[in-house]
Amino acid sequence: MPEIVNPDIERYASEHTSAELPELQAVAAETRERFKDRSGMLTGHLEGAFLRALVAISGARRVLEVGMFTGYSALAMASALPADGSLVTLDISEEHAEVARRHVEASPWSDRIDIRIGPALDTLATLDGPFDLVFIDADKSNYRNYFEAVLPKLADRGVIAIDNVLWGGRVLDASATDDDTRAIVDLNAALATDERVECVMVTVRDGVTLVRLRN
Ligand SMILES: C[S@@+](CC[C@H](N)C(=O)[O-])C[C@H]1O[C@@H](n2cnc3c(N)ncnc32)[C@H](O)[C@@H]1O
Repeated sequence: MPEIVNPDIERYASEHTSAELPELQAVAAETRERFKDRSGMLTGHLEGAFLRALVAISGARRVLEVGMFTGYSALAMASALPADGSLVTLDISEEHAEVARRHVEASPWSDRIDIRIGPALDTLATLDGPFDLVFIDADKSNYRNYFEAVLPKLADRGVIAIDNVLWGGRVLDASATDDDTRAIVDLNAALATDERVECVMVTVRDGVTLVRLRN
């Protein structure tokens, strides 16, 4: 993934963020070792700490994640939940889930994390809200579908965080016609004028849009 933020600034921000939890270091290390070319999908230290802060600041008790990969962001968010909080995380890949399950089970937050495997749109149809925080980070061509599926399940004061909204800068390239880029560009444009919600695009890592209900 091309870097959006100047790499020295990104490193400085990471170095001036509270230390990465050992459980997150462990899953990141195994992911980089085992899924070398896919490890760019990890949210990583800075964004993981950002998500953890969102859970803590918002007082979220019920969290939903669409796109778990090896469990980094799920663990980061679960670590900030209260003891009776819960996080449901969705992925389609058994290969990714095998790694995630081991790290979740070895963590102090396993009782708060519920892993569901299958196409996320199918799983979402089986879940009841309200969720206080929803993190969308799966296949980009379905981002709009995920947004529409989770919006009715959002708590009144809930937040939807949508990852990779800058897509390595390709959102600025009008000649980029691939499905993923078009899906992200179209969703970004739609959200900015969607009267149901208010949103702010934050330039953390690859861009994260925070969405909340207008009323
Ligand atoms: C960018 S990664 C998620 C990264 C993760 N949030 C983290 O911080 O480590 C995207 C994940 O979405 C999953 N995915 C792709 N298409 C999917 C679908 N249709 N339903 C559910 N999961 C899907 C992939 O298997 C992959 O693990």
